[in-house]
Amino acid sequence: MREFKNLIYQNEDNIGIITLNRPKVLNATNSELLKELAELLDEISGDDKVRALILTGGEKVFVAGGDIQFMSQAAPLEMEKFIALGHKVYDRIANFNKPVIAAIFGMALGGGCELALACDIRIAADNAKFGQPEINLGIIPGAGGTQRLSRVVGPGWANYLIMTGRIIKADLALKIGLVTEILPAGQLMTRARELALELAAKSPVAMRLAKSCINNGANSSLSSGLLYEQKVWALLFATEDQKEGMNAFLEKRKPEFKGK
Ligand code: HXC
Repeated sequence: MREFKNLIYQNEDNIGIITLNRPKVLNATNSELLKELAELLDEISGDDKVRALILTGGEKVFVAGGDIQFMSQAAPLEMEKFIALGHKVYDRIANFNKPVIAAIFGMALGGGCELALACDIRIAADNAKFGQPEINLGIIPGAGGTQRLSRVVGPGWANYLIMTGRIIKADLALKIGLVTEILPAGQLMTRARELALELAAKSPVAMRLAKSCINNGANSSLSSGLLYEQKVWALLFATEDQKEGMNAFLEKRKPEFKGK
């Protein structure tokens, strides 16, 4: 795997850890970082040994948003390309073939909060802060925030965050369901690894298809989402993992899922 300028990738046990690494600008995202992330995700998606992914910005900051220096001078067509790239990468994460955990220290603002929203599970350090401050720059959230935020926290809190641009602390983020857990900063990565290992031990096929049902449901009516769920559910009976899971239960042992 090649070296990346804006990312660090580690691979241990069955988990992958991506650390965003543009510390001078608090991990602000530009096209180069997004392209690297797309490339890395492509590589990891093909690696069957990796069964769960952690995305973090390191111990100081998650992401302070899109790179304002870059955006401030950009022409509309350049911004059209940039935001399309942002959507491509964030959708890739949302639909990734492995579960993705965001481990959030410090600020997750604008495109950073949207990046966290594209992940499946968000856990945060007690120093984490969240916000969609784009309104203060004369723009709006453009990397999915107007859509994903309200699906996660409901339109009431989404309106509040997007319209005021206010930054909220981790405890409020937990209360509104933006994150599922808060930990002291020193314990966050240990917890993220624990959670990733827990997910990595499940059936990769069931994991992928559960995610597919949830994501498909967000884009469809209840009845078509329910129908999709039924078909996918029945399809899982064609897998070895289903047999292993049920046999292990009956034999009172831990299942060993192979992803087949
Ligand atoms: C470019 C940024 C940046 C950003 C911080 N920096 N955020 N550069 N884009 N989004 C740079 C600063 O200019 C500064 O560089 C250095 O990082 C440290 O930042 P400070 O402001 O000095 O740190 P601090 O006082 O601790 O304040 C932290 C902060 C603040 C609250 C996070 O930096 C801030 O408000 N940043 C902007 C947040 C924001 O509006 N995000 C939304 C962006 S729009 P120097 O050279 O001075 O040391 C967006 C659109 C989505 O996200 C795009 C889709 C991908």
